[in-house]
Amino acid sequence: MRAIVQETYGSADVLHLAYIARPGIGEKEVLVRVHAAGLDRGTWHVTTGLPYALRLVYGIRAPKNPVPGLDLAGTVTAVGAAVTRFCVGDEVFGFGKGPFAEFAAAPENKLGRKPANLTFAQASVVPVSASTALQALRAAGPVTPGQKVLILGASGGVGSYAVQLAKAAGAVVTGVSSTAKLDLVRSLGADHVIDYTHQDFADGSERYDLILDIAGNPTLARLRSALAPSGTAVITGGEEGGSWTGSLDRQLRALVLSPFISQRLTMVMVKQGAADLENLRGLIEAGSLKPVIDRTYTLDQVPEAMRYFDAGKARGKVAITI
Ligand SMILES: NC(=O)c1ccc[n+]([C@@H]2O[C@H](COP(=O)([O-])OP(=O)(O)OC[C@H]3O[C@@H](n4cnc5c(N)ncnc54)[C@H](OP(=O)(O)O)[C@@H]3O)[C@@H](O)[C@H]2O)c1
Repeated sequence: MRAIVQETYGSADVLHLAYIARPGIGEKEVLVRVHAAGLDRGTWHVTTGLPYALRLVYGIRAPKNPVPGLDLAGTVTAVGAAVTRFCVGDEVFGFGKGPFAEFAAAPENKLGRKPANLTFAQASVVPVSASTALQALRAAGPVTPGQKVLILGASGGVGSYAVQLAKAAGAVVTGVSSTAKLDLVRSLGADHVIDYTHQDFADGSERYDLILDIAGNPTLARLRSALAPSGTAVITGGEEGGSWTGSLDRQLRALVLSPFISQRLTMVMVKQGAADLENLRGLIEAGSLKPVIDRTYTLDQVPEAMRYFDAGKARGKVAITI
């Protein structure tokens, strides 16, 4: 099969097209003919091997799986002996093992049925970003109508879903992004927008009941100064942490500090599960949630896609069609 492979960690230059054997599947896995794969920040982290801490999980010198990617949408072509939820021919989306390839194995408990109203490309950019947004809002406790919610990184993969989910729950949403992406954030339903190149969300003019800290890496002190006295901040990420631990350091410090203050600071590590994929399918088919695809690339263009994504240009998500 055709696949993108990498023999070492590095920039987009380490990625190249190759012909390799189709992956085998375990008893509880299915083989998916990948029609589209999503590009997400986590895939970028595994490609580059940064922060270094992730190499303890993914491989010290090179990724254990040379085929990158995580999100996929496609058709089941084979099922393991213990698979009960899927049959050959089913259209699925979810988390695969290296889906920048024509075929990828995927555990059945990390797949859902593809939303009927989405193309494969659209479905492929849902799993990790939308699951993270859903789980971050859940970690905050139920969002109630009228709650003031601030979303840092509202224009990116996770943020574009978080804005829509918070709005669907009835929150008054303020989305933070750069100038060029403010229109996107408004179009997703944000009531207010803040251009972080001109305005500081923590200038004291507003206090929020909930902050989803998806990007920007503000200090905990700045986060807290924008949070209501009994508000909650959920930290999902940030790209400006050190090379060793990335944003994890700030997330862990938030957990340590939280019991000693009136505000609640917490973090989320996404769980790759079928239940949330089915929740998301329901929301998408009901019209409450839609993926935003900025650009679509072909498999041989993955290095180019990675460079575009790394330059921070993407509005919403980038998809790879195969
Ligand atoms: N905890 C988990 O399990 C989990 C899961 C998924 C992702 N993450 C992490 O979450 C973070 C975001 O992921 P993503 O997939 O949404 O990334 P993404 O698609 O690259 O989006 C990040 C967005 O943040 C915006 N941004 C950059 N600097 C900002 C600032 N100072 N203030 C506000 N917005 C800013 C960027 O847009 P502008 O051009 O508008 O700046 C960009 O659109 C990453 O660090 C990722 O590793 C964590």
